[in-house]
Amino acid sequence: MKTTFSIIKADVGGWPGHALVHPELEKIAYKKLIDARKSDLLKDFHVTHCGDDLELIMTHTNGVDSKEIHGLAWDTFCEATEKARDLGLYAAGQDLLSDAFSGNVRGMGPGIAEIEFTERKAEPIVAFMMDKTEPGAFNFPFFKIFADPFNTAGLIIDPSIHDGFIFEVWDIQEHKNVFIKTPEEMYDLLALIGAKSRFVIKRVFPKKSSKLPSDEPVAVISTEKLYQIAGEYVGKDDPAGFVRAQSGLPALGEVIEAFSLGHLVSGWMRGSHNGPLMPVSVGNAQCTRFDGPPRVIALGFQLRNGKLTEPVDLFDDPAFDITRRRAQDVMDYMRRHGPFEPHRLPMADMEYTTLPKVMKKLGPRFKKTK
Ligand code: F6R
Ligand code: MG
Ligand code: MG
Repeated sequence: MKTTFSIIKADVGGWPGHALVHPELEKIAYKKLIDARKSDLLKDFHVTHCGDDLELIMTHTNGVDSKEIHGLAWDTFCEATEKARDLGLYAAGQDLLSDAFSGNVRGMGPGIAEIEFTERKAEPIVAFMMDKTEPGAFNFPFFKIFADPFNTAGLIIDPSIHDGFIFEVWDIQEHKNVFIKTPEEMYDLLALIGAKSRFVIKRVFPKKSSKLPSDEPVAVISTEKLYQIAGEYVGKDDPAGFVRAQSGLPALGEVIEAFSLGHLVSGWMRGSHNGPLMPVSVGNAQCTRFDGPPRVIALGFQLRNGKLTEPVDLFDDPAFDITRRRAQDVMDYMRRHGPFEPHRLPMADMEYTTLPKVMKKLGPRFKKTK
């Protein structure tokens, strides 16, 4: 049976500032989605948050880019925005960049990660949601999961994944994509995805030799760039993504191992700073110090006939304390640099922030040097 797994997310108001989603907004989303499940539009769902982003995790049989499913998400975000306005939450409706829904939320503000695939007998899925960072934050861990044998032992010792995977990489400036095979083209892949503000992994596919269908992705990431939609900085493009695991794919433990460094990502305060990505439980998915640090949560589900088990909060575990401790040390070290690069992003990446407005004022005072 084919199931579509969709995560659609948006920041429709923060509590307080850009820290967290108010529980009343999650309640609205829950009500909306439970009705959709009753009417059979959804097979199942889970509502959660990461920082100030409201996250709708949904299963259905409508395929990707479905008007009904995207419409449901859009209506949910609109209702939640109303509530956010009533409650006086901060930046209500921030990510709803258009006034009218025209069949698809792509390009309208919300972030979308979705895949339609043939369910295996038992289907483990890990949904990752990040706040205060950008889609390129997934490049490092997704490379590690599917291409780095120091992370994923199965690439060496499991014949069913020994041949490697195919990465679909998007150039989000030129709006082009390219498919790159690993391990044979690993260096080409790294040449691109190391530049994480421009080249982002969009999907990962099994190879033809795999026992899984080679045209059905096994991982996907939301790649919406809000500033490209809005033309100016409107909050970072806090991404979501998910990975299918086990039997012919990296094991669940190999999937979450990739987040054990607390790697450096861009975003954080005013979408303008580099800092460590801290894996946290849902209970700690609120952005505080310097509006951060950037955070990631991981919810693990088993999926069967479109139905989801209750999620397991995978970073709610002392095994990740060492990562959090390191992330906090790195955060403190980075903060000491104040407005200096590389804590603050390089000029090219500041183009869509509020900095050019400040620079404009100084413009006439610049004189040619001799
Ligand atoms: C980062 C983010 C926050 C805001 C910051 C200023 O993604 O959302 O760090 O950029 O709090 O917010 P405003 O301009 O709304 O006062
Ligand atoms: Mg916000
Ligand atoms: Mg956010």
